Amino acid sequence: MATPVPKAVPIDPIASPLQEKEFTAAYLQGWFSVLRDAGPEAWGKRLIDRSIGPQDQRGYLVNAFGEPVGALTFSASRDVVPTLVATPTVRTLDHLLQLHARVEAGEQLTLDESRELLGQAGTGGARPKSTVEDGGKLYLCKGVSINDKADLAPVPIVEAALLSLASELDIQAPAGRIIAVGGQPVPMVSRFDRETVPGGFARWRYASGQTLFWSMPEVAQWSHQGSYNGLARHLVRWERTPREDIRELYRRIVFNALVGNLDDHDKNHGLVAAADGNFRLTPVFDLSMTSTAGAHHSLAMAFGQDGAVITLNNLLSDCTDFDYARTGALAVIGAQWEHLQQHLLERLVHFGCDERRAQRTLALMPGHRLF
Ligand SMILES: Nc1ncnc2c1ncn2[C@@H]1O[C@H](COP(=O)(O)OP(=O)(O)OP(=O)(O)O)[C@@H](O)[C@H]1O
Ligand SMILES: [Mg+2]
Repeated sequence: MATPVPKAVPIDPIASPLQEKEFTAAYLQGWFSVLRDAGPEAWGKRLIDRSIGPQDQRGYLVNAFGEPVGALTFSASRDVVPTLVATPTVRTLDHLLQLHARVEAGEQLTLDESRELLGQAGTGGARPKSTVEDGGKLYLCKGVSINDKADLAPVPIVEAALLSLASELDIQAPAGRIIAVGGQPVPMVSRFDRETVPGGFARWRYASGQTLFWSMPEVAQWSHQGSYNGLARHLVRWERTPREDIRELYRRIVFNALVGNLDDHDKNHGLVAAADGNFRLTPVFDLSMTSTAGAHHSLAMAFGQDGAVITLNNLLSDCTDFDYARTGALAVIGAQWEHLQQHLLERLVHFGCDERRAQRTLALMPGHRLF
């Protein structure tokens, strides 16, 4: 057996375990999914395109400075140290949000302003977002977007309210708080991939749900989008003690189904390997509520015999895949719905949403049609 390299850790223990051999990625345009997790997506790419022009995947990784998600950071070659930029403090958040808003509105930025935003390009996703430091900790902040619907609850407030309710329903959620910036409530969510250590921040490895699926390309290449059932099976391979996370995955499915978090695609799930080095589910992130009315709603990933369709039968149909017996699953669904009905309106209003917009948003919840 080959001796492991001292202190080396696998960035993807399934697709590229620690072995003395060269691994190549035959799929995803030749990129290991775990490397793409550390790079920009739609928003960050837009910032880079505007600042220095369109890039290939390598260019997007190398030019996203700041605090990309996970432990990895990139440079042009092994002899070049990655560009390090100081993380802005929370005092600059107003300014950063305004810069993002000007990009959304298609306005010109100065060269310095564009470069400043490159320090915020590394975190994935499609919405404008910034990482800031406050009191020696790092926080991810998302403000309002011009694409949000004006008659519904503001997206950042919905996210904050859902995170706080999730944490009351036996679902891990990151710590955070809401602050007023330029008259707007802005949630600051603790970065789960950073930990304050003397002299800076420890950076923890991150792997998205997509990376878990693509850690077995021979399966992933045939499926359009993985399923929660498949994700649970991957947890068995990635985690030392997966049972609790598999059960939590079920509670997340129920939560997403009841509130209508239909944007629960495979990059809105992930694992983080913190201080003990073991991969575990990250706290939930990117929670939203559907902004479309309709009789039939589906989650982004299948979870039962009827695929991703949100019905009570479907929620119960494969509950044993997640280590829940039917009675236990029914209890989870009932308890979550009761809690949401009791507290979601009050929480949205508490975080700064006006009651009429909150009511209109709540009326869209698939949970109403479940029972
Ligand atoms: N609290 C957090 N700590 C560290 N990384 C996070 C945190 N929340 C989200 N991320 C990472 O940042 C990425 C982008 O965040 P998020 O999904 O919230 O953005 P988004 O723009 O709303 O995404 P989408 O395009 O899916 O709507 C996530 O895919 C995840 O990898
Ligand atoms: Mg997302």
